[in-house]
Amino acid sequence: MKNLIVGNYKMNFTTKEFSNYLDAFLPKVKHCQNDIVLCVPYTNLMLGAQKLTSTNIKLGAQNLSTEESGAYTGEISNCMLKELGTNYVIVGHSERRQMFKETDEQINKKIIRALSVNLKVILCIGETKAEKNANKTKQVITNQLEKALNGLYENELENIVIAYEPIWAIGSGKTPQAKEIEEILQEIRNYIKENFSLTASNNICILYGGSVNEANYVNFLKIKGINGLLVGGACLDVDKFASIVK
Ligand code: PGA
Repeated sequence: MKNLIVGNYKMNFTTKEFSNYLDAFLPKVKHCQNDIVLCVPYTNLMLGAQKLTSTNIKLGAQNLSTEESGAYTGEISNCMLKELGTNYVIVGHSERRQMFKETDEQINKKIIRALSVNLKVILCIGETKAEKNANKTKQVITNQLEKALNGLYENELENIVIAYEPIWAIGSGKTPQAKEIEEILQEIRNYIKENFSLTASNNICILYGGSVNEANYVNFLKIKGINGLLVGGACLDVDKFASIVK
């Protein structure tokens, strides 16, 4: 079955470095059957759009503004991303929630902004170690979904991908048990079923992210209900990422 494999490059690669990376990466994944999205820093979107035109690989950004235009120094809008050929945008990554104090309300606004210009959203949700230890994972996930998807219509979920990323697993080398991930994916689908519809719940694309690498990715893809992976650190290495997407 086809999976969606997303690379989150975070704040890595100058344009020159990314150009070299793509020159090495693209030939390796030429005949790949999976859907691939590369979420790059803003400064690499233009180069990405040029180099990916004759491929099936899609281009993603890592954030966008809650606002449409105006006096918001340093922000990047939905239309700016769209104009550069961006197809996807990550919203609510835990690094933005934690380091930049992004709130669920802002995340909801960003999702609405992205969808309004036909950008697909990769919505990240996940619990901290303390929340996991306190047995609050399901509660946290449900609360994040409720606030992020507030006011959306069922048909809009077709353009939303949900990435379950336990915060304690990101960049740590630690990962949940397959059984635990399966339970959370089921919880997400239950939430979508109860609040939208059974069809939306069956169709929604759900990824796992957090310390995915070339050695463990196969085990994650075997988990029931999973539709793909969000890869951080391992996507920076051409060979590692090529082996995962292939
Ligand atoms: P990681 O990052 O693969 O380096 O854990 C994943 C992410 O932050 O999306």
